Amino acid sequence: MSEFSKAGARAVLVHINFRNAQFSEEFDEFIQLAGSCGLDTAITVTGSRATPDARYFIGSGKLEEIRGRVQESGAGLVIFNHTLSPAQERNLERELQCRVLDRVGLILDIFSQRARSYEGKLQVELAQLQHLATRLVRGWSHLERQKGGIGLRGPGETQLETDRRLIGKRIKNINGRLQRVRSQHRQGRRLRKRTGTPVVSLVGYTNAGKTTLFNRLTGSEQYVADKLFATLDTTLRKLELFPATPIILSDTVGFIRNIPHDLIDAFHATLEEIREADLLLHVVDVSDNQRQSRVEQVNAVISDIGASQVPQLMVYNKADLNGGVTGLAGGAGPLPEVRISARTGAGLEELKKVMSTLLFAPRHEHVLRLPPTASKLRATLFQTGVVLDEHPDDSGGWVLHINVEDLALQRLCRDHGLDVSLLH
Ligand code: GTP
Repeated sequence: MSEFSKAGARAVLVHINFRNAQFSEEFDEFIQLAGSCGLDTAITVTGSRATPDARYFIGSGKLEEIRGRVQESGAGLVIFNHTLSPAQERNLERELQCRVLDRVGLILDIFSQRARSYEGKLQVELAQLQHLATRLVRGWSHLERQKGGIGLRGPGETQLETDRRLIGKRIKNINGRLQRVRSQHRQGRRLRKRTGTPVVSLVGYTNAGKTTLFNRLTGSEQYVADKLFATLDTTLRKLELFPATPIILSDTVGFIRNIPHDLIDAFHATLEEIREADLLLHVVDVSDNQRQSRVEQVNAVISDIGASQVPQLMVYNKADLNGGVTGLAGGAGPLPEVRISARTGAGLEELKKVMSTLLFAPRHEHVLRLPPTASKLRATLFQTGVVLDEHPDDSGGWVLHINVEDLALQRLCRDHGLDVSLLH
């Protein structure tokens, strides 16, 4: 359970508008994040600056204003909608005499409330420890409590050194446990690949309706809430598109702009699921007036985790809030777009049809030029029986005439780390 976010706990929320876009964050999203965390969002302090102050992030006037709000409200916590350096956080805590948290800390707290699986919990704890390790100034009572707190300090160690040592030890311990769970998951993925079951991953900005859609499609009952990051752990379910043609659908963590890098690292394994999928359903909330920038932010994360080559089907959700028109529409990219309402179920039949067409498309003939380094891929193509004929090319490689589904070919090339040229 989170350290401070008791339902309705009072916090002062600070948001600064920077003229320099590099430091800018969104105010509405911040309020939603704090609300998702269970905090009372009534007390806000806003301001504007050109760039952050090196010592306190804000100027002395704003610091006074926040001090006043803390004192009159009795809030025990001040949250900044920005990334603070460890020194700024410490300086502010000293001046304000209360706990100060930055945007990364807030997101981590939400994550710690939401993690449900063993791996998810380990991932969040690791990210929290890494965030904390740079911010240690005083005793870390949490660890001591866990260990009983007696006889912990080595000879001549200060409290701070003890804390650092304990954190280092705990990080090592979690890393070891994570490695073990991940290798089990990797085996699971390998098995799915071998059985040839396609995997479809739901991606989208947090609160777009991914879990609602997942539940509708698979008939399961995952937790749905009007909260950011309601889903944290990847959930996998089998879905029959036609009788006897199963696919695996995976619901993943919601995205947000500027996901802190610590988190991307910690959630690497969860995000790997996305990179290895055959198709992404990119779910967009049509009722969100920021939807276009949300799509760009999600695409930025997708490219950050190396998944931009996975085909994406755009799924515009919550059509019931936006005129109610559902079904297929021509998209800007090579794939069509689908409008649905995951809540009412409208448009889902069309969505399933498009998914099957994309995943189990009829085969096409291609001429593929393989470099000499691609002998493994060549062997796989022969094994799967898709090669019609082949002849050597001048560079020592091969030109193959094959008959295969487009997505399967893309997946094969990707799995072999190859950017191969298709002649037609
Ligand atoms: P994260 O887990 O935070 O990433 O969210 P998510 O994308 O999984 O969204 P979730 O399914 O939890 O839905 C978020 C909110 O949107 C919930 O209150 C849903 O009831 C609501 N919602 C989802 N789909 C629809 C829809 O088609 N229409 C309407 N009106 N609301 C929807």
